[in-house]
Amino acid sequence: MRSVALILAAGEGTRMKSALPKVLHPLLGAPMLHHVVRCALEAGVDQAVVVVGHGAERVEASLAAAFGARVTTALQPVRRGTGDAAARGLAAVAEGPGTAVVLYGDTPLLRAEDVAALLEAGRGGAPLAMLTTTIDEPRGYGRILRDASGAVVGIREEKDCSPEERALREVNPGVYAFDLGFLREALPALKPNNQQGEYYLTDTVALAAARGRVESREADVHSLLGVNDRTQLAEAERILLHRLCERWRKAGVTIRDGVRLDATVELEADVTLEAGAVLRGATRVASGALVDVGCVLTDAQIEAGAVLKPYSVVTQSKVGKGAQIGPFAHLRPGSAIGDEAHVGNFVETKNTTLGRGAKANHLAYLGDGDVGEGANVGAGTIFCNYDGFRKHRTTIGARAFIGSDSQLVAPVSVGEGAYVGTGTTVTEDVPADALAIGRARQQNKAGYAAKLRERLGRRPPTK
Ligand code: UD1
Ligand code: CA
Repeated sequence: MRSVALILAAGEGTRMKSALPKVLHPLLGAPMLHHVVRCALEAGVDQAVVVVGHGAERVEASLAAAFGARVTTALQPVRRGTGDAAARGLAAVAEGPGTAVVLYGDTPLLRAEDVAALLEAGRGGAPLAMLTTTIDEPRGYGRILRDASGAVVGIREEKDCSPEERALREVNPGVYAFDLGFLREALPALKPNNQQGEYYLTDTVALAAARGRVESREADVHSLLGVNDRTQLAEAERILLHRLCERWRKAGVTIRDGVRLDATVELEADVTLEAGAVLRGATRVASGALVDVGCVLTDAQIEAGAVLKPYSVVTQSKVGKGAQIGPFAHLRPGSAIGDEAHVGNFVETKNTTLGRGAKANHLAYLGDGDVGEGANVGAGTIFCNYDGFRKHRTTIGARAFIGSDSQLVAPVSVGEGAYVGTGTTVTEDVPADALAIGRARQQNKAGYAAKLRERLGRRPPTK
C-alpha cells in the first residue's frame, strides 16, 4: 500500500533566536531537516512532502540541492499550528488509500528503522499508530493521556496541562503513521481552542481513539529529542556524533574522544583520528592513515598510510600514500601531495602538486606550482605567483634542489636536477642540471667589527 511522509518544517523556531530558519541549523554538517528527510526516505516512503513557511525559499533551495526531485514542498502561508501544517502537506498528496507518516522537521535523531516499524504498524488497520517515549525532563513536550486500561486516549500540550497532567513523563515525540482516509477527515475537524490558539495535530489523537484504537509503541528517548533551542541542538549533535563514531569504530577506525566528524565523511579500517581532529564534508581517509591532534580536514582525500601531524589544515586537497604533512602545515584548495612526499611545518600550498618523494620541510609558500619527483624545496622558499593582476605557475623539475630563502618569480621553471643557490631570486628559467645563483657576493672586511665596537662603545648608551 502507498505511503507518504509529511514533514512539518514551516515554523520559525523563535527559541533558537536566529536569523537562520531553525530546521536549517546544521548537525554534523547537514541541516537538521535533512536528517529527518533522509530518515523518511530510508524508511521507504513512496513520496516525501516537506511543509515550508518561515524562510521557505532558503529551506526549499537547501532541500532541492540535497534531494532533487525525490522531495517536494508545500507552502503553509501562515503558521497556524501543526494541524494546519499537516493539512497543507496533505493537499499535495493524491486521493486514494494509504498511510501518511507525519514527522516534525526538528527531530533529527529519528531512526529509519523506527519509522519503518511504525509504517508497518500503521498498515494494521488502526486509524493511527504512534511512538511514545518516557523522559525525566518532559518540559516542552505534549503529554500522553491513557485511560484505565492503558489505551492512549489523547495528547495534552504542556501549556494546556493541569498540574497532574504536567507531572506525566510519557511524552509525544511527534512521530505518527496515520491512515490517509482518517487523516483527511480528522484535520478539517480540528479547532484552535487551546492556550496558543493553534490547530494542534496532536488533537487528532483523541479523534483516533474515539474512532478505534491508537497503536502506540515506546521508543528510545535518544532517537526522539526535539530541538527547540541551542541547548537541545548541542545535545542532539552530541548524540548523533556518538552514534556516528560508534559506527566507524565497529568498522575498525580508532577515534579518540573529542573528534568531530560530518556524517558525509568516509573512513577505512585502521585509520586513527586523534583528539581534536575535525573532518568535514566529502573528506575520505584511507586505511592506516593517521590524522593527529587538532587537524582540520575539509573535502580532503587522504591516501593509505599518510601521516597528518598535529594542527595541519587540509582543504579540497589530496595527500598521497605514505606522505607526511605538518605539524602546522596548510594545504589550500587544489593541492595534490604525491606519495611519500613531505610537507613540513609552516608550509602553505595552494593549487600545487608535489611529485612522489618531493620535500618542502620548513617555512614556504608554494602557490600555483608543480614540484617534480624527489625535488627538495628549502626553508623560506616562496613561489611569487601573483603580479597584482594574474596568477602564474612555477615548475620545478624532478630531483631539483631549491636552496633556502629563494624566491621563484612566476612564470618560471627550474629544470630537472638543477640547483638553485640559497638566497636566489629566480626570474629566468633554469636549464636542467644548471646552477642558478643570484645573490650579492660576500665581502669580508678584516678587523672591522672590532673597530666598530671601539668607536660606538665610547658613546653613552642610548635608551
Ligand atoms: C510538538 C507537539 C508536541 C510534541 C513535540 C515533540 C503539537 C501541537 N505539539 O510541540 O506534542 O511533544 O512537538 O517535539 O504538534 N510547524 C509548522 N507549522 C506550524 C507550527 C509548527 O510547520 O504552524 C512545524 C515546526 O517547524 C516544527 C514542528 O512543526 O518543525 C513542531 O512545531 P513546534 O512548534 O516545534 O512544536 P512543539 O511545541 O515542539
Ligand atoms: Ca519542537
